[in-house]
Amino acid sequence: MAQLWKGRFKKELAKETNDFNSSIGFDSRMFEEDIKGSIAHATMLGATGIIEKSESEKIVNELDKILGEIKSGELSIDMTAEDIHTFIEGELTSRLGQTGKRLHTARSRNDQVALDIRLTLRREIDEISEQLKGLVEVLCNKAQEHSSTIMPGYTHLQRAQPITFGHHLMAYCSMILRDIDRLGDVKKRMNICPLGSGALAGTTYPLDREMVADLLGFDGVTQNSLDGVSDRDFCIELASALSLIMVHLSRFSEEIIMWCSWEFKFVELDDAFSTGSSIMPQKKNPDIAELVRGKSGRVFGDLTTLLTVMKGIALAYNKDMQEDKEAIFDAVDTVKMCLTAFTPMIDTMTVLKDNMRLAAAKGFINATDCADYLVGKGLAFRDAYKCTGELVALCIDKGLTLETLPIGEYKAICDLFDDGVYEAINLDKCVNDRKVVGSPCSENVLKQVEIARNAIK
Ligand code: ARG
Repeated sequence: MAQLWKGRFKKELAKETNDFNSSIGFDSRMFEEDIKGSIAHATMLGATGIIEKSESEKIVNELDKILGEIKSGELSIDMTAEDIHTFIEGELTSRLGQTGKRLHTARSRNDQVALDIRLTLRREIDEISEQLKGLVEVLCNKAQEHSSTIMPGYTHLQRAQPITFGHHLMAYCSMILRDIDRLGDVKKRMNICPLGSGALAGTTYPLDREMVADLLGFDGVTQNSLDGVSDRDFCIELASALSLIMVHLSRFSEEIIMWCSWEFKFVELDDAFSTGSSIMPQKKNPDIAELVRGKSGRVFGDLTTLLTVMKGIALAYNKDMQEDKEAIFDAVDTVKMCLTAFTPMIDTMTVLKDNMRLAAAKGFINATDCADYLVGKGLAFRDAYKCTGELVALCIDKGLTLETLPIGEYKAICDLFDDGVYEAINLDKCVNDRKVVGSPCSENVLKQVEIARNAIK
């Protein structure tokens, strides 16, 4: 397909140059945004009298038709075109002749592409936010169901204190809610219309930039033409927000992988969301979780790509910036793909409550509560801590737990102990006494669920 910029050149473009230069392989996905941007631009050109109203109408109608035909598959995109902008304008001109050639009045591909990426990513942000809300819902349902399911909470991957599984899930839910919020923030700064910046220095035509911005649902127009065409902060911010989503999904995946192991056996994934081994008949592998963990690397790589592409280019547009799209689209697609598989995997997994409970009973995770019991009897916390430490050492020597250690042994270490200690170290009590805001007791889990559900309404 012919270039838009032929006039100055005497020779045909080398095939190698076109292959290397062309971006249609990865920017054709913006065809709808490109056409809608052109429709808004043409409408404004007609309304301001920059082109004849009748010509503007013809352009708008034909662009609408082209959009419908691409969507229905009737018109296929020419993959030898330089980019999607060239293809659409070329198609329009082949249909409308002279009138088609008027579309690009007072516009450059530089402000056009800056517009198209914003429109495209704005839509992607909405789609990802919806997916994240789906995950929040699943987490809330599971957390509600397991608001009083006791499990060990860990630090250093060592059993630490008793919590509820619902509380553990709601920790991830809190992260995902912040991710949704962050995407909203990114969108706010992205949603400013750059069209009218021209190639770099605006234009002498009396454009109505606000009209275009309104037609396309933007919150305003960019105030500096150089910045309008060469800003890709919004891509970097989005890649950064997407990277954080992947950090969260990756940590969650790591836990799912551990919990599925025979060493933990806290959950079992549904057959439909796990895989087998080609040689070991007994295996059931958490491949989805492992792939999500692995794919986080791609998204971090995309962020690094964008930062590196942008860091050294003089204002305004440089062709380096064409590299923005593959990176940010890859990040967007990866996150969407991960969420598509991850959410139903969580939704369908079976929680093995009894194993969680058993693990919670084994690791002296009520030792802090034992010490707190002595504090209740008037001992200073540091002394209570030391006594309890000695009790734990004694239990380990004797192969007992705090629950099974006879009261005589307690009293031998500290005479403040009486039979009440057994109630104080009861796991259910230990969890349910943790009532301060943000704690794991069942009541608080249900409160978190309610807050989260309201947040995504
Ligand atoms: N395909 C180009 C891109 O994605 C469009 C802008 C072309 N502008 C130019 N001055 N060559 O960046």
